[in-house]
Amino acid sequence: MIRTKPYFTTEYGKAFWGDSSELMKEIPDESINLVVTSPPFALTRKKAYGNKEDHEYVEWFMPFAKEIRRILKGDGSFVLDLGGAYLSNGSR
Ligand SMILES: C[S@@+](CC[C@H](N)C(=O)[O-])C[C@H]1O[C@@H](n2cnc3c(N)ncnc32)[C@H](O)[C@@H]1O
Repeated sequence: MIRTKPYFTTEYGKAFWGDSSELMKEIPDESINLVVTSPPFALTRKKAYGNKEDHEYVEWFMPFAKEIRRILKGDGSFVLDLGGAYLSNGSR
């Protein structure tokens, strides 16, 4: 399974702290029941961890999506929490 050392472990499982795009590479194909994520949103207000503009968001997210698809079981579920952004100039 994952070679990276867990950040902590309980009787219910393990938690890892790191870049999810790197950690997911350590997870075997079709081995995960559920992926829940709240990634950086395409906000107009910039966050310290970095967030893409709306027009570049899907391309940025695709490498994550491909890994999620690979690791999910055939009957697995994917929950994606996305925040909206209000653009006041009416251009989009
Ligand atoms: C929209 S915030 C999530 C906020 C969270 N849902 C909450 O309610 O506090 C996005 C989070 O993703 C983290 N993040 C960004 N890129 C990441 C990556 N490649 N791997 C893991 N976490 C990442 C950021 O540090 C930030 O904490």
